Amino acid sequence: MNTQELTLIIFFVVAVQVAIFALIASYRHWLSYEKLKKRLDFLEDHQEDAIPHNRLSVSSLKPLWTGFRDFRVQRKMAEDKKGTICSFFLMPVDEKPLPSFKPGQFLTFQLNIKDGQTSKKVVRCYSLSDKPSPDYFRVTIKRVLAPSRISDALPGIASNYFHDKVREGDILAVKAPAGHFYWEADEKKHPIVLIGSGIGITPMLSILNANIHSDSNREIWFYYGVRNSDEHIMKNYLEEVAKTHQNLHLHVIYSKPKQQDSKGTDYYHEGHIDVTLLRMTLLLKPYQFYVCGPKQMMETLVPDLSAWGVPDSNIHYETFGPSSLTKQEKPTPSSVEAETPSELTITFSNSKKTCQWNNSATSLLEFAEENGIPIDSGCRAGNCGCCQTAIESGEVEYVQSPDIVPEPGTGLLCVSVPKTHLTLSA
Ligand SMILES: Cc1cc2nc3c(=O)[nH]c(=O)nc-3n(C[C@H](O)[C@H](O)[C@H](O)COP(=O)(O)OP(=O)(O)OC[C@H]3O[C@@H](n4cnc5c(N)ncnc54)[C@H](O)[C@@H]3O)c2cc1C
Ligand code: FES
Repeated sequence: MNTQELTLIIFFVVAVQVAIFALIASYRHWLSYEKLKKRLDFLEDHQEDAIPHNRLSVSSLKPLWTGFRDFRVQRKMAEDKKGTICSFFLMPVDEKPLPSFKPGQFLTFQLNIKDGQTSKKVVRCYSLSDKPSPDYFRVTIKRVLAPSRISDALPGIASNYFHDKVREGDILAVKAPAGHFYWEADEKKHPIVLIGSGIGITPMLSILNANIHSDSNREIWFYYGVRNSDEHIMKNYLEEVAKTHQNLHLHVIYSKPKQQDSKGTDYYHEGHIDVTLLRMTLLLKPYQFYVCGPKQMMETLVPDLSAWGVPDSNIHYETFGPSSLTKQEKPTPSSVEAETPSELTITFSNSKKTCQWNNSATSLLEFAEENGIPIDSGCRAGNCGCCQTAIESGEVEYVQSPDIVPEPGTGLLCVSVPKTHLTLSA
């Protein structure tokens, strides 16, 4: 065989490989989710437990302790280059072992924040960002800056307090882990897709770590969307676990890479996490999707997953703040309309304001905020009690069962809508 023939053979082999690769890539891209849906239906018909858990049928979730418990900040460490995201390792002052929680759940903190001579109680929720451990809890908090578009807006009160004032050795009042957004191990080891954007990565880290510290070998797809290397947290750690765990597929997506950020090393995709990216990268499996990120991403990605054909029971999501996304248990707009006619009036007695109920509001809390009535909120999911408000007259209806029982004569506005005309002490 002469050199020319050898070159031809090499060229032919490379061309065949490129063609096969292109075929596989386009097959994955264009494969309709209908096929996956059929496969899911098939699996559901043939497996006793095709869907591992329904996060909303968990009324049995009991708090691991009642009220607030004192925790000492054992360690505080910056997680990104600029120090805008910090982890806090918390150990119970009573030194009793910590009960296990469900990865994805959050802690509720009550902070006493000094404002001049007075101090103000502020309640905020932060997701647990590590696997359950009897020794410590970890939360990872992003400093919230004042929005630049509003001239007199203040920076986030609690997150800045954590960053600027909370030191190692300080004691914090913490409620037991809570929340309906969580992952639970299932015997069938269903593959999971964890999608975290920005600080929404925190519950995904907990789910990831719980998995890789178990011997399940479950298939995990981890999508982390972040602006660029400045805000990329736990980079070395994530790369290391991806290297040492063949069952973990890590995808890092930068929306605004910096000039020195290198594609293929620092990040793998440019842009935002969307269904096109998922279709390009995921295989044909009955995945359980876990999603947490900013409002804009949640408002497109969650409906897009449904539109792609992912059954609602396989989509689990959490938002960290106000969002027009409704939880799965919330009645459809038509049922709300039937039960809560828009002629209902809501009077906020302290603010001396009466407003007509708006059926597009997902809760009384959202309605109050839309009308400029300040109401404290923490979890916005019926877990922390922060939005509890006295009802002077009328009745509310719960659209999602709260985890805590509100005191008599009060309602949790984040998970309720009016049943009758209402007067609230707000
Ligand atoms: C279940 C759950 C889990 C969460 N997990 C995490 C987590 O793991 N990590 C994390 O970092 N966060 C998490 N959060 C978010 C967190 O609870 C707080 O909402 C966040 O830290 C902001 O709180 P803050 O007190 O700093 O900001 P706030 O004081 O509540 O301010 C919120 C926003 O309003 C703006 N603002 C302030 N004043 C004005 C004004 N006059 N006009 C207009 N805007 C104004 C602030 O700049 C800020 O953007 C979670 C939230 C929930 C509900
Ligand atoms: S905001 Fe937590 S219960 Fe309503």
